[in-house]
Amino acid sequence: MKIGIMGAMREEIEPILELVTEIDTEIDYANNKYYKAKYNDYELIIAYSKIGKVNSALTAATMIEKFNIDLLLFSGVAGAINENLKIGDLIIATKLCQHDLDITAFGHPYGYVPESKVFVETDEKLNNIAKKVAKKLNIKLLDGIIATGDQFIADNEKKEWIRKTFNADALEMEGASVGFVCDALNVPFFILRAISDSADMDAGFDFDKFLEGSAKNSAKFLIEMLEELE
Ligand code: ADE
Repeated sequence: MKIGIMGAMREEIEPILELVTEIDTEIDYANNKYYKAKYNDYELIIAYSKIGKVNSALTAATMIEKFNIDLLLFSGVAGAINENLKIGDLIIATKLCQHDLDITAFGHPYGYVPESKVFVETDEKLNNIAKKVAKKLNIKLLDGIIATGDQFIADNEKKEWIRKTFNADALEMEGASVGFVCDALNVPFFILRAISDSADMDAGFDFDKFLEGSAKNSAKFLIEMLEELE
């Protein structure tokens, strides 16, 4: 089985490269680096996409179309909306949406374009594996809705709007774009995030302070999950 592991930022993927010791090759493609590695009996393709929906959609599509991955696991950080999520806590997405997609001028709901859907759902089997790992290791793991957009949110009003409009628990800048690509190409996917900030006026400061530690929490958990995959 070939597994794609992606993040958005170098800080999200470096801990994975450190934990996966057997790295075979580095491939440069489409302004990005893809690392081929082995873990147990799995072939891995590892990359960080760079921030945002376009970059992450390109990386997800490349992993599927060029490297033929069978499933995609995403690891990274997010801003918390749900008050039960504190810095460092983990959340897995049950479904994701694009909070910045807006053609409401034509009578459509936020996050919707014709011939598509507002929410894309993650793979239930992978989510259940994550829950099993969390239980085994006694790690707090929430599941919920993650809202994605090409904006770093550092504003309570904007955060509240995203909560109210999409019933979202966390927000970030890549999950939904990765999800919609995987969904269209029939590849099971999983989105894991550790909280780096609360998307409020302190978010910029908190993000800089907690990015590395939270990204490591997420990466470590993802590697634990590899032990439980069949
Ligand atoms: N990723 C982590 N924190 C974020 C925030 N506040 N806004 C957007 N993406 C994020």
